[in-house]
Formats: sequence, structure tokens, C-alpha cells
Amino acid sequence: MGWSERLQHWLRGLLGGDTGRRIPARLEYVAPVEDAPISAGRAAPAQPNIAFRRNAVFTAFNTAVPVSDRHGLAGRKKELARLVDAVVKQRKHALIYGARGSGKTSLARVFGDLADEAGCVALYGSASEGTDVDGLFRPFLDELPLQRGSATIPADRPMGVQQFANLFVQGVTQHTLLIVDEFDRVTTERTRHEVASLLKLLTDMHSSVQIVLVGIAGNVDGLLAAHPSLRRHLFAQPVAPIERDELAGLLWLCAQQAGLAFEEDAVQAIVSAAIGSPYHARVFGMHAALSAEAAGRERITLADAQKGLAEALAEWSELTPDMCTVFERALSQAGSLRGMIALAGVLAAHAPVLTFERLTAAGIDLFGDELGGPAAVDRTISLIAPALSEDGMPGELQFADSLSPQFLVLMVNGAGLRPREALPVARDTRDARALLQGVGL
Ligand SMILES: Nc1ncnc2c1ncn2[C@@H]1O[C@H](COP(=O)(O)OP(=O)(O)OP(=O)(O)O)[C@@H](O)[C@H]1O
Ligand SMILES: [Mg+2]
Repeated sequence: MGWSERLQHWLRGLLGGDTGRRIPARLEYVAPVEDAPISAGRAAPAQPNIAFRRNAVFTAFNTAVPVSDRHGLAGRKKELARLVDAVVKQRKHALIYGARGSGKTSLARVFGDLADEAGCVALYGSASEGTDVDGLFRPFLDELPLQRGSATIPADRPMGVQQFANLFVQGVTQHTLLIVDEFDRVTTERTRHEVASLLKLLTDMHSSVQIVLVGIAGNVDGLLAAHPSLRRHLFAQPVAPIERDELAGLLWLCAQQAGLAFEEDAVQAIVSAAIGSPYHARVFGMHAALSAEAAGRERITLADAQKGLAEALAEWSELTPDMCTVFERALSQAGSLRGMIALAGVLAAHAPVLTFERLTAAGIDLFGDELGGPAAVDRTISLIAPALSEDGMPGELQFADSLSPQFLVLMVNGAGLRPREALPVARDTRDARALLQGVGL
């Protein structure tokens, strides 16, 4: 039996029955009789609207595009308030950083919108691999509110840090934000150093132009190493996991937009499995909604949620077979360390950087004396090592695919992990316990 069959078999056994198709079957598009909006509380539409309803689910739970509408942005009120305060009011530059898919672009876009309303000009751009300073900032010049005749922009040669600084200071009087997304793609040390210099120069020269960098990072050290004094001028906003209630609200909203409604235990199961990630909440919620929709129901039940989680896991395993194989192998060899492996996944979903010390502390909180000491932690790390990378400081490990920890935890939960009630709980593991007990698989 190959890994994918084993995974299916395994999940089937644990979920108590048929987990359904591996990938939802495609329905032929059938033009709706009329494009009437779907409203909650109506009877399930007749057959011709099936494709229409499925499309409504795909649209509502869409994971392919960042949120641009503030009402669709869940759980980021504090972050937005802090950014407005630091950037719009205190006129600092900013860095928005977090794991892949954590919601950086969504936060940056909605923040740009708010800044725009507050009277700033907010311009949005994106870095690409190998870009230098000219490549990063020249694309903004077309839309920059430059005063007439303020400066000439050389068309035939790249501009340097000083030239950009002069142009921004002398040519722009209107409060302007340049939002540079995907800054992590800038890997050249020299360019990062130059960007840091530009930020510092703009601050020192009281420029009306401020820079907001957005990128994948576990911490801000890489950028600040060049200019430690930047800490005073740069506001760093991490993009952290979202609170349970806010994720539940997001799921309710998406379901409502698709003309469906979640039952409470279904929403809680998905929120638990998403571990603070709006991306995973949307993916899991979409599969659950498709399950209800396929059955012609408007209410998404716990069974739909469980089926949705299994479908999402099966889909992920097809799209990411190497990572799935690593996890499957680790779990097959883990024995009594399955709980520790799940814990590593939960911790990484909360904050990507895993260290021996962090895993040890959380392991002691969760499993007490039964953890098995440092040797057990070492063994846990070595089991999942092929899925980890050590990019930052020595000993700072991260899942190479930062979207994978939630799927790892699902795989363990599929095996029926049930930690005991009476163990002491520290802050770092509070949600881990709730999660490991709460998914209900
Ligand atoms: N606060 C939020 N509320 C609702 N949905 C969100 C939120 N943040 C992110 N999402 C959803 O999660 C997915 C990923 O979001 P986004 O593209 O903003 O993440 P990112 O961190 O910029 O990803 P990447 O690292 O790939 O650039 C999108 O489908 C988006 O709609
Ligand atoms: Mg992004």
C-alpha cells in the first residue's frame, strides 16, 4: 500500500467510515436558471443552481487572494491601530513581518486603505528576486505626488540611495507611504543594507515619504543589523496567529456569503485545527462547506467539518507529497513521541521559530515527567528534521513549508491522540492542549 492509500486508510479508520473522495469531484458548470442571490434560510435550490452554489463557496472562502476590504479582515484591529499610530501619527517607517500565508499582504493593504482615508497617499509595490534599490523604488515614481519641476529622474541609469532620498525630500510634500511587499525576496545583503540606509536618511531629513516593508521573517534582526539605530525609527509589526473568536467570526462570515451557516461544534473543530491561521481556516472551512453543499444542506455540521478536514489533508498530501511522506515516516517511527510531534506542530503554528529549549519547556508542561527528558526532545526533532530548516541563528529551526504544521497536527490527531486532563499548563501550551483535545478526530 502506498503512502497516500495508507493515509486514506488511516483516516478512514479514525474518522469512523468513508472519508469520501480524495479530491472533490468537479461538477460541470450548469448555468443557473436565474442569477438570484442565495439567501440564508431558503430551501436548497433545485439542481440547475448546484454549480452556482459551489462557485459561491469557492468565492466566499477564497484563499488565493489577499483581503482588501477591511470588513473581511478578521482579528487585526490592534495591529491596524498600532500601525496607524506609529506610521500615520508618529511618522515612523514600518516593517510588517510574519510567516508565509499569515496575512501580511492583507494587513498591509487594509492599512494602506486606512492611511489613505487619513489623508496619506499610500502606494503599493512588490519586490522581485534580485531587485536593487532602483528596481524597488523606481516603480513608485509614476504615481508619486511629485511637485512639478522638482527633480529630474534619470531614465538611462539606475538611481542610488542618496538620489532617492533627495527626490523624496525635495520633490514630495504630501504625506506618502510606499508599501514594499515581498521584501524577503531581496536576498542581496548590499540591497538590504542600502534600504536600511534609505530609511535612516529619510528620517534624518524629515521626509514626507515613509516606507513600509512587508516580508516573510521570524524576526527583524536581518534588516536591523545594518543600522541598529533604525530601531528608534522603524515600527515592527508581527503578523501573529488570530484569536479563536475572530477566526470563528471569519468562518461565519464566509459561510453567510455562500448562503450557508455553520453549526457551533463544526466551527469550533475548524478553528481548533487552523491554530490561529486565517488561511487554514478558509481552506478547512471551504472543504466543510463543500461537503454540506454536496449534500444539499445549508447547515454545515460537525460531520461536514471532519470530512472537510480529511479532504483538506488529502488535497494537501497530493500537492505536497514530499512533506507528507516525511511526516508519515516520522509518525510511523514516533511511538510514544507522537504527542511531542504534534506539539512541535502546534508551537510552530503559533510562532515559527522552534528551539530545543522551547520544545522542552512546552513538552514538560504538557507531558510532565513522562516526556522522557532531553533525549526525547532530541529524538522528536530528529524525526521531523527533514521537514525543518535552520535559516536564522544556530538551533533556531523552522518548518521549511510554514503552512505545513497544521497538516502535521491533523495527521497526528487523525491517529487519535488524547493527552490527559490533569497536566499543568503554561501559556505556550494552553492552546496546544485545547487543540489536541478539541479537534475531535
Ligand atoms: N485577517 C484576515 N482575515 C481573513 N482572511 C485573511 C486574513 N489574513 C489573511 N487572510 C486570508 O489568508 C490568505 C493568505 O493571506 P495573505 O495573502 O494576506 O498572506 P501573506 O502573509 O501575504 O502570504 P504570502 O506569505 O504568501 O505573501 C488569503 O486567502 C487571505 O484572504
Ligand atoms: Mg503576501
